[in-house]
Amino acid sequence: MNYTICYTSKSVENLDSTEIKSIFQSTVLKNSDRGITGILLYNSGYFFQVLEGEKEKVKSLFYDLIYPDERHVELFVVMEKFTTEPFFSSYSTEFSVVQTKEEYDHLKKYIDTHLINEDSKKFKRLLAPFVQMLDA
Ligand SMILES: Cc1cc2nc3c(=O)[nH]c(=O)nc-3n(C[C@H](O)[C@H](O)[C@H](O)COP(=O)(O)O)c2cc1C
Repeated sequence: MNYTICYTSKSVENLDSTEIKSIFQSTVLKNSDRGITGILLYNSGYFFQVLEGEKEKVKSLFYDLIYPDERHVELFVVMEKFTTEPFFSSYSTEFSVVQTKEEYDHLKKYIDTHLINEDSKKFKRLLAPFVQMLDA
């Protein structure tokens, strides 16, 4: 059974774009190596991440590494549960970061065409403010 953790957090004030890029880069490499799928977004001081994969791997990544990371605060877990199918595994076989307008458009389209269950509808609602900030 697949396990999903989805959370939002706020970056610390002095986090610059170089550091954000480096978080993004190492996240793609390490998560793809671990067989973890999902997405990571950053916009206007806020992170949004979905982690999907084997329960122990997802939990230890989140609670042991990401949670105590001092580059972000006010972590708020919006979903943590077993899921039948990893929602983002058919988005990309690798873990994805979303940065450019094209990547946001791609994500928006993917979610709109994969509104298969309550989880996907929840992702759509949660992502709406991020997408709107980019459109503005
Ligand atoms: C918002 C945010 C999301 C992160 N997501 C991941 C992640 O999905 N996978 C990962 O390996 N590290 C992630 N990190 C980095 C980890 O918190 C941690 O710094 C890193 O795993 C430590 O790796 P190291 O021990 O090899 O230096 C994230 C950090 C932040 C601030």
